[in-house]
Amino acid sequence: MEYITAKSAGFCFGVKRAMDKVEEQIELSAGKKIYTYGPIIHNEEVVKNLEARGVVAIRDDSELDAIVTDNNQKNVMIIRSHGISKMTQDMLLDKGFEIVDATCPFVKRIHNTVSEESQNGKSIIIIGNKKHPEVEGIMGWCVSEPVVIESLDEVGSIRFDSSKKYCVVAQTTFNHNKFKDIVEKIDSLGYDVSVVTTICNATYDRQTESKEIAAKVDTMIVIGDTHSSNSKKLYEICREECGDTHFIQTLDDLDLDATKSVRLVGITAGASTPDYIIEEVQNYVRVDF
Ligand code: F3S
Repeated sequence: MEYITAKSAGFCFGVKRAMDKVEEQIELSAGKKIYTYGPIIHNEEVVKNLEARGVVAIRDDSELDAIVTDNNQKNVMIIRSHGISKMTQDMLLDKGFEIVDATCPFVKRIHNTVSEESQNGKSIIIIGNKKHPEVEGIMGWCVSEPVVIESLDEVGSIRFDSSKKYCVVAQTTFNHNKFKDIVEKIDSLGYDVSVVTTICNATYDRQTESKEIAAKVDTMIVIGDTHSSNSKKLYEICREECGDTHFIQTLDDLDLDATKSVRLVGITAGASTPDYIIEEVQNYVRVDF
């Protein structure tokens, strides 16, 4: 069977960097306990494997109180690529954790921007999903209350003030076109607004490449965690191009119809899919199907 795998399939730069930091800490740990603030990636299988190797994912702040830290042997808390707010960072330091910051540098750049601009008196407008941990983190670096919107309609709800200056940033994974439309609408209102384009191309590139592949194959396989929104989105994009698109978490979920005449298979994967799962699927398609 012939197959094409998207070059952009799997971990993006920031997630790969975060995973490397976890591995580094496992090697260096020297008896220290290792925690991650939230699951390091949206992939239960990976999180379970890490747990078996002593890396515990904190899912709720209430779990922190049970962790005893003494200053001679600080426990390590790894911050995932989404980043955290300043308040959370201070809280973790107060509780005595040694912080290993795996915040993606593209997200950290947004923290620095909103922190500086809000300290300079600008009001911050964040375009993104208020409930997403990345946006919660960004909000927490603004020294004044930011406004968060995620649709064109919500522009009307912003109480603009002509005596104020505004700075607009976006969640890294926000849709390019939607961002452009929202910024155009804000610009048209005539206030003093500066826009910092903070969308990361990793998601866009993965979606574009996967769409192109899906358009030319007979069967498309999208690998990703069912809880991962970027993987679900990838599946929707591919399904629009290729009717025979399969969304799987691991090779075990793959149920290809062997009776169909399939000449070419496409493979892509969401940002939280480790390489070994992609390789297993590739091997199956090449050898067994
Ligand atoms: Fe960073 Fe972009 Fe990935 S912001 S975490 S490289 S999607």
